[in-house]
Amino acid sequence: MNKQNIYTGDSKLSELICRNCNLLLVMSRFGISLGFGDNTVQEVCEKQNVDTDTFLAVANFMEKESPHNDKIGKNISVESLVHYLQQAHSYFLDFCLPAIRRKLIESIDYSGNDLVVHILKFYDEYVNEVRSHMEYEDRTVFKYVDALLNGKDTEGYSISVFEEKHNQIAEKMSDLKNTIIKYYPSHLNPNQINSVLFDIFSCEKDLTLHCKVEDLIFIPAIRQLEEEMNTPVKNDKNETPKINALKTSNGTDKTVSQEILSKREKEIITCIAKGMSNKEIADKLFLSTHTVITHRKNITRKLQIYSPAGLTIYAIVNKLIKLQDVN
Ligand SMILES: [Fe+2]
Ligand SMILES: [Fe+2]
Repeated sequence: MNKQNIYTGDSKLSELICRNCNLLLVMSRFGISLGFGDNTVQEVCEKQNVDTDTFLAVANFMEKESPHNDKIGKNISVESLVHYLQQAHSYFLDFCLPAIRRKLIESIDYSGNDLVVHILKFYDEYVNEVRSHMEYEDRTVFKYVDALLNGKDTEGYSISVFEEKHNQIAEKMSDLKNTIIKYYPSHLNPNQINSVLFDIFSCEKDLTLHCKVEDLIFIPAIRQLEEEMNTPVKNDKNETPKINALKTSNGTDKTVSQEILSKREKEIITCIAKGMSNKEIADKLFLSTHTVITHRKNITRKLQIYSPAGLTIYAIVNKLIKLQDVN
């Protein structure tokens, strides 16, 4: 590490890892194995065929959570970075998220509380959204980068399309975390559920950083590549699938404390838990659809719960609805 607290090729890799254990994940995603003794970052990267500048760009980002210089796109290997991101996807989808699900099941007492079924349903919906987000990147974005690198037809796609659509995927993880903290039955095993919560906190942080690496390192690097390849850029927004719909669009402040729900808002939550659409709720309560949408925005602001699955759990826990009436 140099005077500006930036990791360099001369830093000993073992010291970096002891300083910031998140680098273990970075290492494994770059394919760096343990057992490198006192070797420096440069020595380890050269021996294990990893691009040193790309590894350092990501490692320094993990330390500061921002790029350490604005010329980052010029220094890194795009192939190496794409490989890193692909390995991260595989880690989340094939290891981390399934492991949390297994622990959630182990920590749940099915015999006395069917609420847990809804927590699992909530979790599974979230994992599906993460999967579609990452599959889009694997199948469309990285495929585009490969075509760009190999001088193939990029079919009018450009990195600005991805940039515009790319959203954070950790927000709903926060929703799940808050739901468990606030509403999980207190008589169940606290050690097991706390252990799952720790895992959810770490996964949320890891997912947030993953998306930031894509926004602040990957996208600038590909933009640089596009300029070098002198590729005609077309921003075809209409043909691009939405990566995920989790971004909070109302700009609410998450620190706002929970407020009391009105009778009407409780009725609307009950309808949501029954799986009704805005139009169906409006017809049932003799309201306009616009009014229902406004109520839903207020409910979200007051409870800080963003998804129907989260509201369903809230409705069950707070006895607004019986479990058998939930859709
Ligand atoms: Fe990704
Ligand atoms: Fe992403």
